[in-house]
Amino acid sequence: MGSLYFCNMLKSTLIKAAKASGALIAEKINGKFSIEKKAGPNDLVTEVDKASEALIMDIIRQDFPDHFILSEEIGEVKMDSSYKWIIDPIDGTVNFANGIPLCCVSIGIEHEGEMIMGAVYNPMMNEFFFAEKGKGAFLNDQRLSVSQQDQVIYSCLVTGFPYTYLDMENGPLDVFSRLIRKGIPVRRLGSAAIDLCWVAAGRFDGFYEHKLNAWDSAAGYLMVEEAGGKVTGFKGEKYSPYQPHIIATNGKIHEELIRWINNTHQ
Ligand code: IPD
Ligand code: CA
Ligand code: CA
Repeated sequence: MGSLYFCNMLKSTLIKAAKASGALIAEKINGKFSIEKKAGPNDLVTEVDKASEALIMDIIRQDFPDHFILSEEIGEVKMDSSYKWIIDPIDGTVNFANGIPLCCVSIGIEHEGEMIMGAVYNPMMNEFFFAEKGKGAFLNDQRLSVSQQDQVIYSCLVTGFPYTYLDMENGPLDVFSRLIRKGIPVRRLGSAAIDLCWVAAGRFDGFYEHKLNAWDSAAGYLMVEEAGGKVTGFKGEKYSPYQPHIIATNGKIHEELIRWINNTHQ
């Protein structure tokens, strides 16, 4: 993926951008800010999402003006580059807009189609997650490992629901009710990036969601893989952040959770 020197430059810019954005999020979360609606009544964007995005993009452009950027609010800034920065300037905007301290900034770096680095920062909990391909995942410099749970029935899971409900077989509520009816704890934090990091940290045994965008999962899925977990689509296929469905687990419950989601378990 390039020389060690170049990787260190990428890492330092990534950390600088995530820290700057996190500081802004922490400063603004309990203040006043304007809120607009996007696709639906609860699909929100605040002026802080936009300010966080502008701040991150400025920092990236200072160091890597020729890199491709994909960011939630602005979309694609196409460049003829093998490096792509994938940004969610606030993941968990509904939480942020309500002063709920479960939100973060998420930034992933892709090189030639492969995720090589990611940072997720929730400043309200002082939790900075960082992962580098082949080098592990870390929370505030402490190395992360996924949990050891090997049965779905004893697992603590987390999921999320799209703003526009997906009426489909084995859709979000079908799967949720299947698990809940068996008494399996399934949490809904409201930030897919935090969900993924908390799987990496072993707090959750697994996460699944039906409709994510690349910016929601780019950094977080690398975090899970680098903590020893497994990430695929709903059929167990190789994961790409450009597909909507995701299952991310400690690896041990992965095949079983796929069966619960597809309603093919015993
Ligand atoms: C949302 C959060 C949420 C997930 C939604 C995402 P946003 O991102 O990650 O947990 O359930 O699907 O859209 O809108 O807060 O950036
Ligand atoms: Ca998001
Ligand atoms: Ca967002």
